[in-house]
Amino acid sequence: MDKTIIITGGAGFIGSHVVRRFVTKYPGYRIINLDALTYAGNLENLRDIENAPNYFFEKANILNTDDLERVFTLYQPDGIIHLAAESHVDRSILSPLDFVYTNVIGTVNLLNAAKQYWKDDSSGKRFYHISTDEVYGALGKTGFFTESTAYSPNSPYSASKASSDHFVRAYGETYHLPVIITNCSNNYGPNHFPEKLIPLFINNIITQKPLPVYGDGLYTRDWLYVKDHAAAIDLVFHEGKEHETYNIGGFNEWRNIDLVKLLCKLMDEKLGNVHGASEKLITYVKDRPGHDRRYAIDAAKINKELGWKPSVTFEEGLKLTIDWYFENKEWLTHVTSGEYQQYYNEQYTTR
Ligand code: NAD
Ligand code: DAU
Repeated sequence: MDKTIIITGGAGFIGSHVVRRFVTKYPGYRIINLDALTYAGNLENLRDIENAPNYFFEKANILNTDDLERVFTLYQPDGIIHLAAESHVDRSILSPLDFVYTNVIGTVNLLNAAKQYWKDDSSGKRFYHISTDEVYGALGKTGFFTESTAYSPNSPYSASKASSDHFVRAYGETYHLPVIITNCSNNYGPNHFPEKLIPLFINNIITQKPLPVYGDGLYTRDWLYVKDHAAAIDLVFHEGKEHETYNIGGFNEWRNIDLVKLLCKLMDEKLGNVHGASEKLITYVKDRPGHDRRYAIDAAKINKELGWKPSVTFEEGLKLTIDWYFENKEWLTHVTSGEYQQYYNEQYTTR
């Protein structure tokens, strides 16, 4: 085997695309999916590759140092790609401490495990931390986030991710851990949990529920197809420079209301509805507290230095995403039963 890589959070949305890419593209690598299987983790996301000889699943929690020691000792990894996290901003507003535990303390536990396991010999090793553009806070009407933009997180989620980024950087400086960080914009695509805007609205159009647009709907996000993010992660893991940070973005800014209208149009086409049918479900609701007005990534560094750029247009990516949800209605039914209903009621019924 060429390399052994632990991917944390591999049963989640982005993690499952990263795991699949590495398992299929690098048959010589051993890929260990370390995941606690929280509400967001779902092994159904990986059914197609679960029997691959180079794929291993370990149900383990990054908050449990015994779990980490066991997995590190068992597999002796050369690389870590760290995606495990609490990832939803609205949940962080309801329950900030869960985000501190998993995103901050969990990340420090993982850094300690790598430090302890690799000791002074970290040549050829890599600790790759996956982070978000939300650490930079909000932009006004113009400008972009670059790698040197000051951190200014506004939500408990982004504060916890910012903190984890600082710890990763600090372990690089203090203990010479071979760290690397990427900060990416909003992902969308297959397997996206329907608490986030795009899959929530696809599900609500299918089930004919209101589409809850927060505030005035003029908030702007920079959207990237999840498989393009997985391709960027592959490239950075293999060719990125140690101790560097790279921003990853879609070159694709959309105001929420414009995105929702495009989604409604594509869903109407898919469902054979008359034009405008799904738009009738749009309902403006109370805003998210601390809502960041605009995110936009300047991805020039990863583009120039590593040659990465997105491969699909937004309309292509959205069509692929919608097709996936229609072909995987059973997946949608599974993930929206149980805990999801309770969260949905808490989040939306009093808005
Ligand atoms: P997700 O919520 O879909 O998946 C998170 C995964 O982590 C789940 O499989 C869950 O079971 C696992 N997990 C949670 N707590 C754990 C713990 N204590 N121990 C082990 N596993 C645990 O998240 P996602 O949207 O795929 O995001 C993955 C990473 O990418 C996160 O670090 C997130 O901050 C970052 N990110 C996400 C986006 C986005 O648009 N979704 C954009 C930029 C960065
Ligand atoms: O920017 C990267 C981040 O993108 C990631 O780090 C996060 O993990 C990921 O969840 C995402 O955060 P956002 O808060 O931007 O994504 P979300 O899909 O929750 O919301 C996108 C926009 O849509 C945001 O402006 C809030 C709005 N929104 C969201 C929901 C769920 C609504 O108007 N209504 C909704 O019901």
